[in-house]
Amino acid sequence: MNKKPGYVFVWPIGTRIIHWMMAFSFTAAFVTSFYAYLLHSHVALGFIFLTIIIYRVIWGIIGPKYATFNTFKLSLPQLKEYFVLKVTNRWRKIPAGHNPASSWFTVWALMVGTVIVISGLLLYGVQEGKGLFMHLNDDYSHYMGMLDGIHRYASYLFLVWVIIHIAGVMVEQFWHKTGMVFAMINGYKKTDGEDTSVKPILNFFAYSMILVAIASYFFIISSNYNFLTMRKFTPIDYATEHPVFFKECGDCHKIYPPFLLPEKSWKRVMDDLDNHFGVKITDANISMSKQASIREFLYQNSAEHSTREAAVKIMDSLGERRPKAITKTPYWRVTHSHIPRSAYRDKKIKDKSNCAACHKDFESGVLDDMEIMYRKK
Ligand code: HEC
Ligand code: HEC
Repeated sequence: MNKKPGYVFVWPIGTRIIHWMMAFSFTAAFVTSFYAYLLHSHVALGFIFLTIIIYRVIWGIIGPKYATFNTFKLSLPQLKEYFVLKVTNRWRKIPAGHNPASSWFTVWALMVGTVIVISGLLLYGVQEGKGLFMHLNDDYSHYMGMLDGIHRYASYLFLVWVIIHIAGVMVEQFWHKTGMVFAMINGYKKTDGEDTSVKPILNFFAYSMILVAIASYFFIISSNYNFLTMRKFTPIDYATEHPVFFKECGDCHKIYPPFLLPEKSWKRVMDDLDNHFGVKITDANISMSKQASIREFLYQNSAEHSTREAAVKIMDSLGERRPKAITKTPYWRVTHSHIPRSAYRDKKIKDKSNCAACHKDFESGVLDDMEIMYRKK
């Protein structure tokens, strides 16, 4: 017997929470992806999304009535019939479980969602040198662009999908007046069928997965480097690594980590020290032997020898060019193009070459996204 006459209980709390946590984590992860310094939050939200996808797939196999994949209406004629009846406003049969459109939506969302989380985890490892796959950065750094593309376009696809889904729900809600929105809130649909019921063991599984999702979020947010977000590139102490470089090249400005320019650029910098960005540096300032030692250090650690994101992307952006300044590389220009000129009026920043003013970990050569300080003025 149904508890509410005229209504069927179709979405138990476990299913509804999956739905809203997926919607919330995707939206929040999508928004944070536009701000580099929010990468850490983005990853934490991604772990909610990942847990929910795993949960939903298992739920689709062993879950309660109406949630399992074998109740999905996935034949194309069914989908076509659904849309034809929809458009002609003759759709009156509301199925208790998923209708053909929402069946397709769920399957696609899970597939695209899987691509998003896998490419995201790999990108985090390959590009940022962080997380479970950080060691893939060693050999696969040249795939960071490709992984970024997959991760990005899969997310756009997911977004388009969500918009279509919301449009469909709105049509149901306001045109056909099926009260579809409320179904995902209170679990009841106005239709015929039998109430669903969830076995205690399934409820236990559902709550455990929800807990894992929330816990993984807070676990990541509460510490910068744990086993899910550990980093391959730890801070470099240039003062001990190469004391001469640290002292002589850090005299007027904070040192620029060598991996930010290719060897030929460093050669130009070192060849032109007597005309160094408007200042004259001679062997009276830095002795010839020290210059030679610095030169050697810069060459050995130049962008060609690094698999760090900045090094790889700077090299990719340069082509044949070998400018004397990092701020002259196309990659630097693009990543900083949205910073308003007014930001440089800030006394603490002053100049675009003052990298350390905005990148708190600049001197130790890390350039972590979450260490970017940027106050909108
Ligand atoms: C006498 C002061 C002085 C010393 C010593 C010095 N620099 Fe500079 N450097 C400057 C100035 C001034 C600029 C222009 C940017 C600025 O205002 O900070 C600059 C800019 C640079 C830039 C370009 C940064 C950009 O905009 O992308 C690089 C690279 C650089 N220096 C490398 C070095 C290296 C390598 C050494 C050591 C061999 C060195 N500098 C030592 C004064 C100095
Ligand atoms: C006025 C502040 C500011 C200054 C000065 C600045 N940056 Fe940045 N930098 C930013 C911001 C903000 C971003 C993030 C851009 C974005 O949203 O993708 C960024 C991004 C980057 C990135 C890409 C990081 C990533 O993983 O997305 C690199 C590399 C970088 N900066 C290097 C430098 C270097 C080298 C200098 C000095 C020559 C410098 N920056 C000077 C603010 C600054």
